[in-house]
Amino acid sequence: MNRSDTLIKNQNLLIGITLRSDLDFMKKNKVAIIGAGAVGSSIAFDLIIQGICDEILIIDINEKKAFSEALDLKHCMAYSKHTTKIKASNYTECGDADLIIITAAAPYIQGQSRLDMLATAKKIVKSIIDPIMASGFAGHFVVITNPVDIISYYIYKLSGLPKNKVIGTGTALDSARLRSILADLIGVESNSVQAYTIGEHGDSQMIPWSTVNIAGKTFADILKDNNDRLGTTDLNQILEETRRAGFEIAAGKGTTNYGIAATTVDIVKAVLNDENKIIPVSALLEGEYNQTDVYVGIPAIVNGKGVSEIVELHLTAEETEKFDQSVTIIKDYIAQL
Ligand code: 2OP
Repeated sequence: MNRSDTLIKNQNLLIGITLRSDLDFMKKNKVAIIGAGAVGSSIAFDLIIQGICDEILIIDINEKKAFSEALDLKHCMAYSKHTTKIKASNYTECGDADLIIITAAAPYIQGQSRLDMLATAKKIVKSIIDPIMASGFAGHFVVITNPVDIISYYIYKLSGLPKNKVIGTGTALDSARLRSILADLIGVESNSVQAYTIGEHGDSQMIPWSTVNIAGKTFADILKDNNDRLGTTDLNQILEETRRAGFEIAAGKGTTNYGIAATTVDIVKAVLNDENKIIPVSALLEGEYNQTDVYVGIPAIVNGKGVSEIVELHLTAEETEKFDQSVTIIKDYIAQL
């Protein structure tokens, strides 16, 4: 073969390799959303607007609702930067999904705690997970259905998937609420506030104040340095406002949906884009924080593997005691599964 033939052959080979690797990067991300209510449809809308996946299945026991939500969302495409295939579907089409979001739940009853919803949620989730696993699904679950820590544990057990592939939204939403409250108090925007609530996504969650910081300053120093306007800040009141936010919203509009949708999409993006993002999701502890066999809200590194590492915060003795109390409540309800 003369020199020019060799050059052309290598060039074609190079083009071939480039095209193939581009095609790899164009891998189709398929996401199924179980539950076509306000939460599921808000998640679908956010996924479409951000162009996070290539295909969305909307699945609901009310097939007409699923069809109508999918058709309505389809009409976004003419004005969307990204084209996302979307349709109403069923569990048999979940086998090749990369990620499935579980939002299905019974209607919220005013005055109920999230823990009160366990018995009904357990029945609903069993009727969903069994057919999904029968489809051959081997991707990631992102779980919203409350009580989310116990339901995440239940799905981990039911599905038989490895722990890293079952991710609950945990205290990610509560932490966003806390950051919003602190941002308003201090006069900065939420993204400038580094703060978590940890423990149950519920009444027993706690704020590890020693880990809260803004611009590298601890919250204690922020209060000290701004004693004139922050000296009377009541930390318990901030915790109460954070814990009660979901109920306050639901009392006014019957549910919450935008905050939990944005929270969920942040987790989905971290998995599908392999972001190594630290998010306070509900994840299985196997010795971390001296706890085992429990799903609980704690900061974790989320990437293409799902939950790839638990971040162990250095808590004070008092914070550890409050965290352990919250874990005990979750374990008590796990025992009822
Ligand atoms: C909330 O707190 C849905 O539990 C969720 O809004």
